[in-house]
Amino acid sequence: MRTALSDVLGIEHPVISAGMGVVAMARLAAAVSDAGGMGTIGLAAMDPGAARAEIRTAGDLTSRPFGVNLLIPFLEPGLIEAVIEERPAAATFFWGEPDDFRDAIRRLKDAGTRVLWQCGSAEEARAAAKAGVDAIIAQGLDAGGHVRGIVTTLALIPEVRDAIGDLPMAAAGGIADGRGLAAVLALGADGAAIGTRFAASVESAAHPLYKERLVRGHASETIHTTLYDIGWPDAAHRVLRTPVVEEWERAGRPASGSRPGEGAPAGRIRRRDGSAAPLTRYSVIPPAEYIEGDVEGLAYYAGESVSLVREILPAGEIVRRIVAEAEEVIAKRLASLVR
Ligand SMILES: Cc1cc2nc3c(=O)[nH]c(=O)nc-3n(C[C@H](O)[C@H](O)[C@H](O)COP(=O)(O)O)c2cc1C
Repeated sequence: MRTALSDVLGIEHPVISAGMGVVAMARLAAAVSDAGGMGTIGLAAMDPGAARAEIRTAGDLTSRPFGVNLLIPFLEPGLIEAVIEERPAAATFFWGEPDDFRDAIRRLKDAGTRVLWQCGSAEEARAAAKAGVDAIIAQGLDAGGHVRGIVTTLALIPEVRDAIGDLPMAAAGGIADGRGLAAVLALGADGAAIGTRFAASVESAAHPLYKERLVRGHASETIHTTLYDIGWPDAAHRVLRTPVVEEWERAGRPASGSRPGEGAPAGRIRRRDGSAAPLTRYSVIPPAEYIEGDVEGLAYYAGESVSLVREILPAGEIVRRIVAEAEEVIAKRLASLVR
């Protein structure tokens, strides 16, 4: 399956694994890229040294194109420069004003890195196109993790297509299988950016309890909220309704500062140097495999796509299944409808 997105990224299949901070590291990105998609390393809150090391690890694991994600509110000084020097195939920006990054976009492109901008509205997509990006990721309200806009994927994708002309676009939010990929192609996207399904893959760095919870989860259990605000206030996100969320709801959804168990420990994050830093309930950091102790108080980010996540598979297998299923939907089901 060849589209404007696979062409601009130099990949075989128009499937991107989302850059998920803490969860999508080199191992996951490389597995997706090796299968012909584009894996993305989530660089959120990494310092330039850690980012360089992760990019080099991915480069050792695959010879195919992979990307990195730059989460703008967490950009450490020197991080963009490090990415420019390391020259990954692509960089995806999220959560900022495209116009403020014109210079960074130009320098990344000059270094040979394709630049994508994840946006939550047609207006933002238009601004990103104007700032010179190579492609758009349009994220609907159904998405897991932090959610930029308020329009669902089904309505957003055609609106963004009308706003950006021929610029390549991936759709994000609510897509977990080949039916979703075929659907967003029909809506005017050139591929899909998928988070939740890959968070539950073998190579994801999500905590085993989090992966299992994703497999059991249903769309109706997700909630769009600003609850997990420690480290990133006032930023809407979609998470699973864990016992901690239910406790907060039973308490009448009190504001930050007076919620049940405020400040209670929620695991310890193991640093690269071997030391451990405590996390507290309502932290923005999701349960990763390198978080020790009780992780129940952390954010179980999940999109409405979670209903379609039924087993923990190798990421390459997920890419292959999604593409094969999309091809079958298009060639058999959809083509047979036209006489
Ligand atoms: C666990 C998790 C962490 C995420 N972290 C980031 C991030 O660091 N940067 C980013 O641009 N998007 C992040 N996202 C959002 C994804 O880029 C994407 O929009 C979303 O996963 C698409 O919806 P889906 O989960 O239904 O596939 C995250 C999503 C999840 C599920």
